[in-house]
Amino acid sequence: MSNDKKLRWGILGAARVNERLLPAIIEAPNSSLVAIASRRKGAAKATLEKYAPCHGDAACYDNLESLITDKNVDAIYCPMANEEHITWALKAINAGKHVLIEKPMALTVKDIEKIEVAAIKNNVKVMEGFMYRFHPQHARVKEIVDSGLIGDVLSARASYSFLMRPARMYRINRGMRDGGGALWDIGPYAIHSLRWAMGYAHGAKNNKPAEPVAAVAHAKLNEHGADTVLSGVLDFGSDAEGRARFGHFDISFERSRKSEYEIIGTKGWVKCHAAWVFQNDVPVISWALEDGKYAEERFAPSNHFNLEIEHFSDCVLNDKTPLLTFADAKANCEALEMTLKSLS
Ligand SMILES: NC(=O)c1ccc[n+]([C@@H]2O[C@H](COP(=O)([O-])OP(=O)(O)OC[C@H]3O[C@@H](n4cnc5c(N)ncnc54)[C@H](OP(=O)(O)O)[C@@H]3O)[C@@H](O)[C@H]2O)c1
Repeated sequence: MSNDKKLRWGILGAARVNERLLPAIIEAPNSSLVAIASRRKGAAKATLEKYAPCHGDAACYDNLESLITDKNVDAIYCPMANEEHITWALKAINAGKHVLIEKPMALTVKDIEKIEVAAIKNNVKVMEGFMYRFHPQHARVKEIVDSGLIGDVLSARASYSFLMRPARMYRINRGMRDGGGALWDIGPYAIHSLRWAMGYAHGAKNNKPAEPVAAVAHAKLNEHGADTVLSGVLDFGSDAEGRARFGHFDISFERSRKSEYEIIGTKGWVKCHAAWVFQNDVPVISWALEDGKYAEERFAPSNHFNLEIEHFSDCVLNDKTPLLTFADAKANCEALEMTLKSLS
């Protein structure tokens, strides 16, 4: 294992998201970056030089297997394309590495089960990379709901959109069933947030998400079969008093930026204004009550990528259970699969 209580990380793939995660690994006090790999010649080195110019001592590989078998690597961050997570996560786990897998962990619940079985067999930690959960603003939203301020939670809405730049077209260059499009790209955040939000409840002691029993969606598909706009409803069943509980989500690559969710109860609502994209956004939540009371709460800037890396390293180094479990990953994927199925 690592020296002086630092987890030694390797990065599998010269993906764009390394812009965020590579500095996070370097900055986390309990982590160090020891290697990065890409299948494209020179891409690993170029990524390291771009995002960490003073960190030239990390090994740069032009193939992925060398990183997986590198004995200096304790844990692997896997930012491969969505449809490749299953293959490379299994290779890394079977080589005895702990793995932080970008969202979505895989494209089917069956594949997540394979990852879970391999993780148990190899006694390694695995977590799905929902970095946003580590931002303190969400714990505050939960606290507000659990205090009973907005009454019983009956509905939640999540909206995630931005204008796709031409350089990012690779996100929609393959069909939904192959991991392309908005549902697999930004849909996991919206659905994850709705599940967790609908799980908050007055007097709640635990932190368990609620699970939808059904999903329906409409989508606009491009020429590759990738959704560029999708709007869906998750049915969370009825509460003890027979009141309907729905979650609504709305994701798009064609509209101006929205990155927010809100929770609507019987007495009021609470809203998180910058949920998943926080760069240059001031984290702010607001709430309002039936009697007209309204409040805004602002948070000091906080980097959720850094917090995610610190958390996962801590779990490995100190044998703790990651905040985001396999049960959560499977339930999120089940909701994504239900949504996808409703389109056909
Ligand atoms: N947590 C977040 O905030 C966040 C944000 C964005 C994306 N994500 C997730 O992170 C994962 C990666 O997303 P991404 O948008 O960063 O993906 P990406 O840039 O398309 O990279 C995905 C993989 O494709 C290969 N690749 C990258 N650029 C390429 C190019 N120009 N030509 C050919 N192959 C190329 C890389 O593997 P090689 O280096 O081996 O070629 C890379 O690992 C996805 O699962 C996504 O859902 C998370």
